[in-house]
Amino acid sequence: MEHIPRHLAIIMDGNGRWAQQRHLPRLVGHQKGVEAVRQVVEECCSLGICHLTLYAFSSENWGRPADEVAALMGLLATYLKSELKTLLSNKVRLRVIGESEKLPKNIRKTLDEAVERTSQNDSMTLTLALSYGSRAELLNVCKSLAARVGCGELRSEEIDEELFSAALDTGGVPDPDFLIRTSGEMRISNFLLWQLAYTELYFTDVFWPDFSREELHKALLEFGRRQRRFGLTAEQLLKQDRSGDGGNH
Ligand code: IPE
Ligand code: IPE
Ligand code: MG
Repeated sequence: MEHIPRHLAIIMDGNGRWAQQRHLPRLVGHQKGVEAVRQVVEECCSLGICHLTLYAFSSENWGRPADEVAALMGLLATYLKSELKTLLSNKVRLRVIGESEKLPKNIRKTLDEAVERTSQNDSMTLTLALSYGSRAELLNVCKSLAARVGCGELRSEEIDEELFSAALDTGGVPDPDFLIRTSGEMRISNFLLWQLAYTELYFTDVFWPDFSREELHKALLEFGRRQRRFGLTAEQLLKQDRSGDGGNH
């Protein structure tokens, strides 16, 4: 694999439809989805991906039926408890983005512990987007910067892309190079709106519970075929490549 993205982000979609197709409750789809998460996290570690961000629960998902929300929270708690050992042995650092204060107290506690216990790990950073919505994230940045300007700590002219990026929940993590969305939907659904400005997008019809190592490899091969131009011309990129400062990752 020549072109491994430094940061891979995934919108894990299609658990419900996977189950419905099999006349099973949606929850079974979510349970199968957790299996896919395990496989993909492990594979990303062995491929040497530095950052993996998984969209696990959106701000809008709070509006789902209460029993589905409760089941998802239960699965999250089970996943964190059962995976902590593996995360530690694979030197994975866990981070969380989103309005985690809205999560049930027991989940927050388990999350905080996992984040704390993995904080010194340095092989891959796994970011879970939980109760995450990009518009809310952007509004929070605006509010915090406005407050800093208001109290004279910051001048509005000093607000640039770097400062703004650093104030996002994802501050310190590079923007995703590659975004995968499963289940055939071709939308962003309020995910990383600022950070995806120059991300390569990949949509597959495969439902998340069926997203295997092979599907991941297929997607990464496609990433390797993309030419990221960042607004420049192909000739300019060729020149950069020859002088050794270009590349896809
Ligand atoms: C993704 O699968 C998981 C979450 C959004 C929590 P869905 O539950 O959205 O599955 P579909 O899209 O209804 O098939
Ligand atoms: C996006 O999936 C959120 C997650 C995968 C966690 P949804 O299923 O909630 O998105 P929409 O409603 O189809 O846009
Ligand atoms: Mg969905």
